[in-house]
Amino acid sequence: MTLVIAIDGPAGSGKGTIAKKISSFYNFPHLDSGILYRSVAYLCEIGGEKNLDENIVLKYAQNLNLDEIDIDNLRTKEIDEISSKISSYSSVRESLKSFQINFKKIHSDKKGIVVDGRDITTVIFPNADLKFYITASLKDRANRRFKELMLINPKIDKKLVIKELQKRDQRDMERSTAPLKIADDAIIIDTSYKIVPQKNLPSF
Ligand code: CDP
Repeated sequence: MTLVIAIDGPAGSGKGTIAKKISSFYNFPHLDSGILYRSVAYLCEIGGEKNLDENIVLKYAQNLNLDEIDIDNLRTKEIDEISSKISSYSSVRESLKSFQINFKKIHSDKKGIVVDGRDITTVIFPNADLKFYITASLKDRANRRFKELMLINPKIDKKLVIKELQKRDQRDMERSTAPLKIADDAIIIDTSYKIVPQKNLPSF
């Protein structure tokens, strides 16, 4: 039995940081599902796909090979926007769902896995052993994303970062397929101002 720890939350909530810490503490493989959407977005960007036609985006998703993607290119403002748009396509989500289900299969010899994203607790692993919904105030989340984007472009406008984060939240929460929502059985953690503890985690 492979324990599944599923973590969802909006942009900048700290879910990725928490997922990484759990993963390294327990030595459980970690899948950041956002990387999948960002990688497809990146392929659309370098492919010059301006219209983001669903069938074309789907082809990129179906042929996705993470080994060919340089993940250092994935956290730009442009990729934020494209990944948020293409993640509303149900065919694209279905294709990336197989990838995520397969992640569990290929790690079936491990004690556990950690997967984070927007629909992990609700759609991808609705029967996960542990579910978390990580959130934080818009101000704190935008500050974190601003600091990250500043490393790429020191002149980035903070107001724009806040606006784009809100737009992304709205798209993620209001789309008809697999919207971001709190699973009934999820543990909610608000990380506003919080530091993630690294010690005293329970053993499995
Ligand atoms: O790190 P951050 O929370 O800013 O974003 P991410 O997790 O890398 O995801 C990038 C985009 O992919 C999000 O804005 C979502 O629109 C989409 N996404 C999704 O729809 N479902 C997931 N399971 C993961 C990401």
